[in-house]
This record gives sequence, C-alpha cells and structure tokens, in this order.
Amino acid sequence: MRAFCSLLLLAAVPAVLAVKTQDFKTCSQSAFCRRGRGLSARAQEASSSWVSPYSVDASTISIAPNLASFTAAVKSSLYPDIKFGLDVRIHDDGVVRVRMDEVDGLRKRYDGAASWALVAEPELSSKIRWSVGKADVRAKYGDKKDVEVVVAFNPLRVTLLQGGKEQVVLNGKGLLHMEHFRAKENSPKEEPAGESEQVVMQVNNRAWFEGDSEDEYWEEKFGSWTDSKPKGPESLSLDISFPNHGHVYGIPQHATRLSLPTTTGENAYYSEPYRLYNADVFEYLADSPMSLYGSIPVMHAHSAGSTVAIFNAVGSETWIDVAHPSPKSTETHWISESGILDVFIMPGPTPADIFAQYTRLTGTPALPAHWALGYHQCRWNYISSNDVRDVQKRFDMEDMPVDVFWLDIEYAEEHKYFIWDKKNFPDPVDMMHDVEDIGRKMVVIIDPHLKRTDNYPVYQEANERGLLVKSADGEKDYEGWCWSGSSAWIDFFNPNSWDWWKTLFKTLPQGDRWSWTDSTIDTYIWNDMNEPSVFNGPEISMPRDNVHHGGWEHRDIHNINGMLLHNLTSQAVMTRTDPPRRPFVLTRSFYAGSQRFGAMWTGDNLGTWEHMAAGVRMVLANNIGGFSFAGSDVGGFFGNPDSEMLVRWYQVGIFSPFFRAHAHIDTKRREPYLLDEPYKSIIRNVLRMRYSMLPVWYTAFRETSVTGLPVLRPHYVAFPHDEAGFAIDDQFFVGSSGLLVKPIVEKGATHTTVYLPEDQVYYDYFTHDVHRGASKGKSVTIQADLHKTPLLIRGGSIVPTRERPRRSSPLMKYDPFTLRIALSNQDVAHGELYLDDGETYSHRDGHFVWREFIAEKTEKKSKAVRISSRNLAAQKPGEAVDGVALTKYDGSNDFAKSMADVRVERVVIFGAATKPASVKMGDSELQWEYTQGVAASDKREGMASVLVIKDPGVSITSDWEIVVQA
Ligand code: NOJ
Repeated sequence: MRAFCSLLLLAAVPAVLAVKTQDFKTCSQSAFCRRGRGLSARAQEASSSWVSPYSVDASTISIAPNLASFTAAVKSSLYPDIKFGLDVRIHDDGVVRVRMDEVDGLRKRYDGAASWALVAEPELSSKIRWSVGKADVRAKYGDKKDVEVVVAFNPLRVTLLQGGKEQVVLNGKGLLHMEHFRAKENSPKEEPAGESEQVVMQVNNRAWFEGDSEDEYWEEKFGSWTDSKPKGPESLSLDISFPNHGHVYGIPQHATRLSLPTTTGENAYYSEPYRLYNADVFEYLADSPMSLYGSIPVMHAHSAGSTVAIFNAVGSETWIDVAHPSPKSTETHWISESGILDVFIMPGPTPADIFAQYTRLTGTPALPAHWALGYHQCRWNYISSNDVRDVQKRFDMEDMPVDVFWLDIEYAEEHKYFIWDKKNFPDPVDMMHDVEDIGRKMVVIIDPHLKRTDNYPVYQEANERGLLVKSADGEKDYEGWCWSGSSAWIDFFNPNSWDWWKTLFKTLPQGDRWSWTDSTIDTYIWNDMNEPSVFNGPEISMPRDNVHHGGWEHRDIHNINGMLLHNLTSQAVMTRTDPPRRPFVLTRSFYAGSQRFGAMWTGDNLGTWEHMAAGVRMVLANNIGGFSFAGSDVGGFFGNPDSEMLVRWYQVGIFSPFFRAHAHIDTKRREPYLLDEPYKSIIRNVLRMRYSMLPVWYTAFRETSVTGLPVLRPHYVAFPHDEAGFAIDDQFFVGSSGLLVKPIVEKGATHTTVYLPEDQVYYDYFTHDVHRGASKGKSVTIQADLHKTPLLIRGGSIVPTRERPRRSSPLMKYDPFTLRIALSNQDVAHGELYLDDGETYSHRDGHFVWREFIAEKTEKKSKAVRISSRNLAAQKPGEAVDGVALTKYDGSNDFAKSMADVRVERVVIFGAATKPASVKMGDSELQWEYTQGVAASDKREGMASVLVIKDPGVSITSDWEIVVQA
C-alpha cells in the first residue's frame, strides 16, 4: 500500500520524480467533466446558433418585501416538466448572490456549501429597487449608481455591469446546465444523431444540447473502483465570462502561475481544466492544473480599470476551463459534480474592495498567536523525547532562534493519535515542559483516521456514539486504509461529533470521557491527511458514494470535508482553557473560510528548484484566496537538498507567512545547525532576519484580520493599474510595510532583476543601494549572492524591527525597536506597528498598542524633516483589531502599560539628502551619525545617505517627535 511505498522511497530525489498520474482522473476520465466539456464543444461547433435552453418565467417574479432580492421560476426548454427556481440577492456591500436549484425534484441537491463557508448570513441591501421589464429585471446601485445587475429572461443570463461595461456574465455562452434528478428506469433515451444532423439540430433537441448518450449516468468506473452513483447524474455546468478582464487569479490550490494560464482555446497552455478535488497527490508536479490538497473556488478577474471576483460556493468536485478569446477578456467554464448553483459576484472595483467583500462573506483570517510567526522545526520524525531535547539543545548551542518543535505520526503508538508511544516518549508532559521553558511550543499531529481497534479509546468512543462516516449502504461504518492500517473516519458533518471532539483536547480529566491528559495547554495541533487521504480508496480518497450525516454522499461535500476537522480542532484548542487562548492548527486540506481556523501548507513538495519556485506562487495564490497564513515545506519534503538550495529555501521561508522546515522520514537530517560553514552562519542570519521582522509580520496579520488584505501582495494587488505587473508572480510585497521581496529560486544566482512599478525610489535593505523606478515601470538589477535575499524598501515606508538575537520570540517581548525610515522622492514616509500580548484575546478588549510613524517636512518648503509617533488606535477606533470593532480605546490599557519601558533604540533614515545641522527631540540634541551616500552615475544607481539616530530615549507606546534640521 501507499504507506509502505512512501517508506521505501529513496533518500535522494531521483532524477525524474513524477506524480502517479494514473491515480487521478483527467477530465475525460470523469463522466460529468466529459459531459460538461462535451456541452462546451457542441456550443462551439454550433457557434451563433447555440442558445441556452434556460429561461426565466417573468410571470413568476416575486420581489421580496426587503426589495433587495427576488425569486422566479426557471424552465429548460429541454425538460418542460422540470422546475427550477432562481433567487437573486444584492447584499449591502454590493455583492450579488445568484442561486438556482431544482424545485420539487425527485431528490434534493446539496445546498450546504455556503453555510460552511460563510461567517454569517449576509445583510441585504436596503437601497435596491429591482425594475421588471419585458425582457429582463434589473437594478442599479452603488454610490454613483454605476453598478447594474441585469437578469435577462430568455435565455437566462445574469450580467454585472459597471459604468455601462460588462464585468461578469453568467451563462453568456449558454453553458448553464443543471442535470435534474431522474429515475433510472424512466430515463429518456435519445436516438444517436448522425454527425451532420447534430449541427443543424434545433434548440429543443436534447441530444444537440446534452449529447446523444447517457454517459455513465448511473455508475462510473475508475481503475478498480466503481462509483455506484445512486442519485444518477446531477452535475452543474456554468460559464462565467469576464469580457473586459485579461487576467484571472485564484482558485487555489494548483501548482501553477498566479495569472492562470489557459486550458482551452487556441494555444491553450494546459490541455486539462483546473481541477478542484481535494487530493493527496504524491510527488505532485510543479506546473500543472491537477488538483491538490485544498480548494478555494474563488477567482479574481483583473484589468487596469477594475477587479471583480466570483465565489462559486460548491463543495463537490469542480473543473474549470479558462480561455482568453482576446488578450483583454476571459471566459471560464465551471463544471461541478453536484450541488445547487450558488455564485457570489463581487463587484470590486479594486483588489482591496474584493478582499473586503470576500472576507465579509467568509471571514477574515484569525489573528494568529505571535509565536506562530516564528520558525517551526519539523521532520518526520523526531523519534523520542530525548531526540526533541537534543534538537532543542543544538539550536540553543548554535544560537539559532526557533519557536516550535513538531512531532509527526511516529509519536503515536501504532498511529493511534493522542496516544504516546511510551517506549520512545515515556515522559511527554515533561518533554513538553522542557520545550516550553523559554516560551517555545510543541505542535503534535492528529490525523482524522482512527485505527479500528478495541484498545483505542478515541475510536471506541466515536464508534459507540455513531460518529463515523458510513459506506455506500448508509449502514456500515466505512473502513479504509491509512497510516494506522484499517481505519475509520469521524464524520464532522454530524453535530454530535463537535463537542465530543473538543473534549478530547482537554488537558484535565473529563469524567468518563477520554481526554488528552498527557498533553499541555501549549501543545498545538497539525491536522494532516484530511482531504481525506485513504490509501486504498479511489484517487487516494474516500469513495464518493460513502454517506455522511443527513444522508449526503461524500461527493456532495468532498471539498469541504477537510475544513471541518480544521474548524473543530481550532475550536477545541481555543477552548482548552478558560478564558480561551488563540489556537494554532495547521491544516493540509482547506476550503473557502478555512482562513478563520489557522494555517495551511502546500503539502509534499520536492526538494527541487522548480518546487521552490512553485511554492512561492502557491503561497501567493493562497493569499489571493483569502488564506494568508500559508507556507511550503522549507527544504522540500522529499529529497536531500544541497547546502545552497537549503539556504535559498530558508530565504524563501522567512518571507512566507507560515515558516516551517519539514522533511520526509527517509531524508537525511538537515536541521540548520548541521550545515558546514559558511552555510550554517548564513542560515543563522536568515533566521535572525525573520525574527527581527516579526513586528512587520504581526502588523500585517492585524491588517488582514480586519480588512482581508493579504499578507503577501502580488503586483496586481499592490499596483492595480500597472499592466506590466499583472503577470508577475516571483516577487511580492509584505503587507503594507513597503518591503518588496524577490526570493532567489535558482542555482548559482548572484544577481536578479526586480521590477519596480512606479516612479519612486527603492532602497536595498542591506546595502542601501538606491534603485529608481519609472512611471511606466522599470526592471533593476539587484545583487543576490548566497547570503543575500533581494529585499527592497519602497521609498515612503517606515519599517519597525527588533534586532536583538534571541532564542525564541517570547524572549523578545520587551526588546527595543529599530525604525528604518525610507524617505520617498518627496521626503516623506509612513509606517505602522501593532503589538499585543500575542496569545490571549485581551486585545479584543482594547489591550494593545497600535502606532503610526510619520516622516514629513516640518513645513511645505522646509528641508527639515519631522519624525513622529502617534496612536493609531485613537484615530481608527472602529477597525482596530481582529475583526472586532472597538468603540473606545484607552491608550493606557494594561498591555500598553506593560510595554511603556520598551524603547526605540535606533532610527535609521535612508535618503536624507544632506548632513543634518541638528537632530533634536524638543530642545535636546540627540546622538546621531551621518554617512554620505554615493551619487548615481551611468554605471550604478548610487547608494543612499544614511542617518542613524542612536537611542532617542523614547518609548514605543508614547507620542514623540524628532526634528532633523537640514
Ligand atoms: C503527509 C504530510 O503531507 C507530511 O507532511 C507528513 O510528514 C506525512 N503525511 C506523515 O505524517
């Protein structure tokens, strides 16, 4: 079985590693995808004579008393007896929700996907007036009344327009098709039509529309598996066009470019559609539209003038074709196996608006615990308590910071999660306390498969309570194969499992219920294999005809399944204590909304340069999908990277929101202290760099937890009007900090080019070299020797750091700050810093510090620059932290008081044109040092002048002003 295969993997990555493509379906091996693509092919062939058979019965339009929504009956001329219902709503932020379902059908379609994804039922607009005309129903809204939604009756077509321009069109190509439920025996058979006849057939002919055969309607085979498909065909096809947008992004998770390449049309880059079907893909390809572990059915469409997006709330397998009929327009075709049509159209019009609209629907990312942004050291496996202690000791001896040590599956006796293998881990609580001694944490893996054995209380309790997923007959518990051998899976769709699961994580005894008393409140959790991965199942997962709570088949909820484990584990960890503390749970599988529950990583990557580069793009795509807390296994899961690759991989890691090194069980140990010089010292510095920048990361996480703006921002997000940046996915900005990173992902690099999107000065973070962009964009060359990650500070930014080397982040709590001020072309700069206790929820009660730093001219024409610090919370009380609006903020809250002695120890100003005459706080002259820069010449761009103000003696929590007099 697969478990054993992977254990046998060779230690080194063989020259050619390839995914076992035969384990996973292509579109042509999936009946409903085949049917969906067939529909699209017939539409193309029929060209302008193709007409969608779906129409709105205008006489049934019913506008709700709230006026923001209406319902109407929809018919298909192919099946006049089948009824469909349409429901269109406009939310108070302008998002349009379009739902369609079969009405009074033989069965019910699954309609729960949105309810798992949405954070709350959206508020409807109170300003909408639908007007019903002869051919359509329409509504105009928006501040300038320039957004319009038009629902055309015949054929049914939904269009969102902005400024009179079509932005999003549903069913504009006539590919809408909701396969209705039918009885097997009565299923109508069409006579196969001859090829020439097909083209001339009329709209009402089913074969013309659907194809002339019942293509695997009632049973489907793949390899040795047969899917019994008791409900028959129920797929959903929908075309979504963006007539004025030349780039689409999102729909993670795929190892592909950020601006999604085409899958159909002339010169299609891929021949397969993008697939969303959460899967454990062994040795996945670095460039492919194949499915991976998670699915976020969210797509942004972007042009210089506008950004729009859609969220297709479907939980079943979905294939998506992408085409560019012209460079400035995009057509997509979504084919899902089951479920209702439930599409949210986000009108933008800017990327920032889209993030706000999307996270209002599905929630903003939770503000993580501060330590979770430190360095995580993992491998499969640290094999004993003493191994963990030794690794910790080595980090300390080498002065390498680390916050978290991880345990993979071998800690668990026979892979019975929660149960320690006492031979190797005789003293788990003591071991954890040893790790926790200087504020470090442990993360331990808990997978969702339970070993089916009597001596496993977790399985026993789940079994007794009837909480396990059932086989196709709906009666027998499903049995499959995973790490623990013969296993059963908890059905988290069953609400009875929720409290039970949460109780397992309590560290104190819970009466007759089992709980994890062999753990501590600083033990955090890793949820792996939750696609779910089933080694002997079809496509390494669960049979689609398995049955979940409520009688839903696995096919209906497959892509949501993994998120439920993540959600419940996160709640369990949070409520282990009273009052609750911020949880940390890493998940491999995810869906829209998963950002509320913790972090994700990109699964089993390979120790190759291609995978390193792919990881950067995948993490960016996840940020686009609203799920910023993402990273890839540093070092690559499979293989033994050489020292150069490892260094570069750490440099990628420190600029990932989630930063963890991990390695397969068969790889050689590669903890950074094992490297020879100079690599060891380089990685030590790289790790320290991450720690010095924790204030930047934490501040960026505060922002995403409120606005949804991602922590990593690709160019189209940061500079939405700059077309030259729309396809860039190998460099990015960190939050609003002004830091621009271009990780090196190739062997032997000494230089790289970085694209600067604007007429602004950028400074090399390390060398202070000056690089000037241009209003039409410009590429500059940056030095990138092995010890150096190309990192620029955008002129106009102020970056707060903490630069005392420490062994873990909690030890930095009272460390002083350095402020790096990068003056812009106009001699101004701005930056932010957010701080709180980093692990409780007291910030929601106003216990935090949120500062703004400003550098500006003292007067318009003056050359003197004033640098000041002011309280930002007082200015933006409504949007302070973590999605919780604070009505009042008291600057002398307990947390702020506890930080009052924390100083700014250094202010470093890049770009001060001349040596100052004085640098003063009030009347007192401060200590400072000025290094004259080097002017630009034809040969080089020059080096910035740097003014260092030493220990100005100010607190990080208070208001102050320093004046630099020229
Ligand atoms: C698969 C995960 O992707 C990997 O990170 C982990 O080490 C193994 N499962 C073993 O738990």
